[in-house]
Amino acid sequence: MTRTIKLSDGKAIPALQWGNGTGGLNGKHDPAVEYGITALKAGVKAIDTAEMYKTEIATGDALKQAGIKKDDIWVTSKGLSATPEALKANVQDRLQKLGFKPDLLLIHNPFVPETGKIAKFWTLLEDLVLDGTLEGASLGVSNFRPQDLEEVLSVARIKPVANQLEYHPYVLEHLQPVLDIQEKHGIVTEAYGPLTPLLRHKTGGPIKPILERIAQRLSKETGKNVDAASVLLLWTVNKGVVAVTTSTKLPNIEKIVQIEDLPDLSKEEIKEIEDAGRKVHFRHYDEHMTKDFPNPNLPEDLQME
Ligand SMILES: NC(=O)c1ccc[n+]([C@@H]2O[C@H](COP(=O)([O-])OP(=O)(O)OC[C@H]3O[C@@H](n4cnc5c(N)ncnc54)[C@H](OP(=O)(O)O)[C@@H]3O)[C@@H](O)[C@H]2O)c1
Repeated sequence: MTRTIKLSDGKAIPALQWGNGTGGLNGKHDPAVEYGITALKAGVKAIDTAEMYKTEIATGDALKQAGIKKDDIWVTSKGLSATPEALKANVQDRLQKLGFKPDLLLIHNPFVPETGKIAKFWTLLEDLVLDGTLEGASLGVSNFRPQDLEEVLSVARIKPVANQLEYHPYVLEHLQPVLDIQEKHGIVTEAYGPLTPLLRHKTGGPIKPILERIAQRLSKETGKNVDAASVLLLWTVNKGVVAVTTSTKLPNIEKIVQIEDLPDLSKEEIKEIEDAGRKVHFRHYDEHMTKDFPNPNLPEDLQME
């Protein structure tokens, strides 16, 4: 079974995605092909790439070499053109590097369009869907703050279907204004850095013991090796959020794929993780979301009793 999430344009996006923008793959063709093949053969159903990662050609190569048809895999890419004038050429470059139309094309961050030109940029991107250049591709954004979303929504003929952000329990308080706009307009959240609480926070913080307890329960009940990272990814997709994770290690890639068949968390477990996460603020990727969108006044960790 592939877990999917419905987008506002009617498409079903795979809820678990494998990215080739981190973990030593970013900017490197050969490992992105090698691990892309490993991920696809293990059963990954979606690849997240970007112009910035220089792994779009590797994404197409991995598909070909794995012998998997493009139609069976969801591919998201992200573009970078700064000026409205350069946008069309930039989109053509994405199509040429991938070798196919992406299922979803994102504006990589709100600083990609020239200052004050996000709305104009969006209109021109929509034009490329309407004139057939990007027909069939969904359009979305990434790292968009409330003010960026409002600007696009004020002109949108085609609403962005998704906003890809650093998302996990320790940024929920900060993201709430973004999440409120997205709920109102049916914009799906895509979580990058979803494993940040476990991998990058110095203690793992208040959710770690909860994730470990649930991992033990699920391992016992399913007979599978379910770790805390799997529980955090399962929490993400149970929140209705697309989890964009990655791994270059086959056992971890297999755990990502295994989440497709795990039972959902209970409502109480989902809430327990969320409530504990909202008590702290910890972000790993700082470069886009915090400018003119201040962090909440929360500690990075709780005092251990
Ligand atoms: N839009 C944006 O601006 C933006 C920014 C950042 C990232 N992204 C996208 O999101 C993707 C993922 O980002 P991320 O690396 O920050 O995601 P993440 O899910 O927080 O971290 C991925 C790391 O988790 C490790 N991992 C995976 N499964 C594990 C497990 N079961 N136990 C322990 N460790 C495990 C992997 O290391 P091993 O290889 O050791 O398993 C991998 O390096 C990127 O590749 C990119 O496509 C987008």
